[in-house]
Order: sequence, then structure tokens, then C-alpha cells
Amino acid sequence: MKIFIDSAQIEQIKELEDLGVISGITTNPTLASVTGKNFKDLVSEIFSTLSKDRIINLEVIATDYETILKQARALAALDNRVVVKIPCIPDGLKACKKLSEEGIRVNITLVFSPMQALLCANAGAYFVSPFVGRLEDISVDGMEIVSEIVKIYKNYDYKTQILFASVRSVEHIRLAALAGVDVVTSPYEYIKELYKHPLTDTGLAKFLKDWTDAKEEFIV
Ligand code: G3P
Repeated sequence: MKIFIDSAQIEQIKELEDLGVISGITTNPTLASVTGKNFKDLVSEIFSTLSKDRIINLEVIATDYETILKQARALAALDNRVVVKIPCIPDGLKACKKLSEEGIRVNITLVFSPMQALLCANAGAYFVSPFVGRLEDISVDGMEIVSEIVKIYKNYDYKTQILFASVRSVEHIRLAALAGVDVVTSPYEYIKELYKHPLTDTGLAKFLKDWTDAKEEFIV
């Protein structure tokens, strides 16, 4: 399962990029606006922070077919790592179909049901983004929705990749992997938690102490 960072904060993106554990990023108008940066400048900073084979999800802010197409083409033309995020509305699905025929990769965002996900696949989406945390906010079982999407896509061998979004805990990342999604996009803080374990820390401390006590010489 690939991991994306759900952030537009350059320091966070850079740190995880350098660690080599992320395959890309997702942004949205909220994440971009909280940076306080001019969008053009922010996007070019993101481009220079991430290496060549990463995926960069940038979202349109239009809701009508023609403007969605215009914004999506402009975003895709900026860099070949861009996947365009488009909301799951009728004009968005229509634009998705058209853009995917043009070879532009689309991530349909704000997906909350398996039937929306079915339409996204038929519209040729590259990614479908179910928002699990936001479903749980309204007491809907987000994991059940994700499992149904995984099953439906398997039943019909859809090529659309499932991108588990709206992550609210480390546990969500574990459940995403168990459900068999293709990608999880997570805020910085939960990705940072993934490599931590108290037994790793105590184990390492003991290894180093034993080595020091033995007064051995290392190879280099
Ligand atoms: O990037 C979209 C999604 O991950 C947003 O998550 O926490 O705002 O529901 P959240």
C-alpha cells in the first residue's frame, strides 16, 4: 500500500520525502489556504520538494463542467506528476470521463458511498477518494464503505485505485492496509507515528549499552 501525505506544509512534505516512505501527496483547497501562501508559489515549492516519480494531487475549485475542464487541464499541464482532484458531482464525473480520455489522471474526491465509487470507476477515474473520517464523524461505518468499494472494484476488475482519505488515526492506516486499498493519504503526525515502538527504543538502547560495555572495536 502506497502512502501519501495529506498536507500542503512544505517542511512536513520535505521531511517525509527525505525519509523515502511516501509516494506522493494530496492537497485540497483547505490545506492549501491554511499555508497562507500564494497558490502558484506553493505549487512550485511542492514540485521542487518532491522527486520525479511521486504523485501530486492538486484540486480544482470549479463546480461546472467547462471550468472544471479548464482548471484541470491547466493543473495537469504544470507537471507530469499531477493528478487532478475533482469533486464527486455530476459535472465532475462528466469532466473525469473527458479528461481521462485525454490522458489526464483524475482523483474523484469527496466520495462517501460505494455507488459514488462505482460511478467514478465508470468515469475512468485514476483514484477514488472515500473520506473515512468524515463518515465516522456522522456515525457511519467508514470501513464498511471502504470494504464494499474494494469488493466491487475486485468483482469487475476496475483499474481505478482506491485512495483512503480523511485519516484520523494510526489505526485508520492499519485498517486501510488490511482492507486492501491501493493508497492511504494521511496527515503528517500519523505517518510519523508508524515507525515508533517502545520495544524498538529499549532494544536499541540495550544493544548499544552491551556493545559499549564490551569495549570492542567496530569495523569502521
Ligand atoms: O485530502 C482530503 C481529506 O483527506 C480530508 O481529510 O481530515 O479534512 O476530513 P479531513
